[in-house]
Amino acid sequence: MKKQINFAVIGCGLMGREFACAAARWCQLSRTDIPKPVIVGVCDLNEDARRYFTDNFPTVKYSTTDYHELLAADDIDAVYVALPHVMHKQAYVDIINSGKHMLGEKPFGIDLEANKAIMAAIKTHPEVIVRCSSEFPFFPGAQELIRRVKNGECGQIIEVRSAFCHSSDMDRTKPINWKRKIEVNGEYGCMGDLGLHAEHIPFRMGWIPETVYASLSKIVTERPDGKGGMAPCLTWDNAHLVCKCKDANGEFPLYIDTKRICPGATDSWSIQVDGMDASFRFSADDPNAFWYLEPYGREQAWCRVDIGSRPMIPTVTGSIFQFGFTDSILQMWATFCCEVAGIEVPFGCLRPEETALSHILQTAALISHRENRAVKLSEVK
Ligand SMILES: NC(=O)c1ccc[n+]([C@@H]2O[C@H](COP(=O)([O-])OP(=O)(O)OC[C@H]3O[C@@H](n4cnc5c(N)ncnc54)[C@H](O)[C@@H]3O)[C@@H](O)[C@H]2O)c1
Repeated sequence: MKKQINFAVIGCGLMGREFACAAARWCQLSRTDIPKPVIVGVCDLNEDARRYFTDNFPTVKYSTTDYHELLAADDIDAVYVALPHVMHKQAYVDIINSGKHMLGEKPFGIDLEANKAIMAAIKTHPEVIVRCSSEFPFFPGAQELIRRVKNGECGQIIEVRSAFCHSSDMDRTKPINWKRKIEVNGEYGCMGDLGLHAEHIPFRMGWIPETVYASLSKIVTERPDGKGGMAPCLTWDNAHLVCKCKDANGEFPLYIDTKRICPGATDSWSIQVDGMDASFRFSADDPNAFWYLEPYGREQAWCRVDIGSRPMIPTVTGSIFQFGFTDSILQMWATFCCEVAGIEVPFGCLRPEETALSHILQTAALISHRENRAVKLSEVK
């Protein structure tokens, strides 16, 4: 088995750097059979963004503004692509067609049509491993929830609540950026940015929405343009999705909340599964805690377990320590490298077909809000 996977990074901004930092601390993983990502090529229009990589990673031998140069290089095996949404379609299709493995950022296309083009490219290249970034399910508390749900410990599901909330947009003086512009970020707005994070576990558990009723809000409609004026801010700030799901025990609602304007929330990712036999919850706000409730008749009490650092892929970090965002990124990357190398993992990275479902759900949500009605996902073509 290969000991390393040579990577190119296309888009060297916020998330490109997160990957680089995860690759730089691969020795934190206790397992030695997982091939190490080695960054050999970088692409960004911004020279300073590339310089972060060339200054910190002596392995970088290609630094370019044109990603096609990286796709033509024989000594690059895989690509991490973290570009603005408007560029996903072309870049992802080109990467997949080049035959290189790819971890692409969400939402995997600015809209449904872009996602369909990416899915079509994947179909013609079954030899390529393609996954989408989603790190939060790798928190140990979330993994414990997944394990217990998969064991069927919930019994009949009452409801599921999954959310990803931020508050940074409460600040009306925050200048507009590409993530607040429909033409670059997409019409989904907050759903495109945050939705897949909240959908990864529900979709993987097989909770597939049949219908959705959506309430979407635009709260701050203009922002400083950074040049002394104001610019329209037309993306959705907050979205509440009420989905109808079904499993062997019957129907239940799945609530998906994605908010950029949620007082007090910072990177607040959470999931709660309420069942007749047991309920479970985890929130990245309290990363050490896994909560469970087993009913004893009339009264119930939530129990908090301090779960510590017990990640899916073991690390040298003592289990008595805390787990955080950058640890979840490392776990996601280790999982992706396992999947590329054919090493089995209990819980895999977000799959392309899950992004396709997300696009159908979010397109249905746009229709639902516009027409003020519940929309069947089967209506979306
Ligand atoms: N997984 C997560 O938790 C998470 C968090 C934030 C963003 N994201 C996703 O990551 C992706 C990138 O977001 P980001 O926050 O890193 O954005 P960013 O703006 O920090 O970085 C994007 C980079 O792309 C570069 N770029 C733009 N056009 C380019 C072109 N034509 N060729 C080469 N480079 C170009 C920019 O110069 C910039 O450095 C998006 O899809 C976003 O939704 C994921």
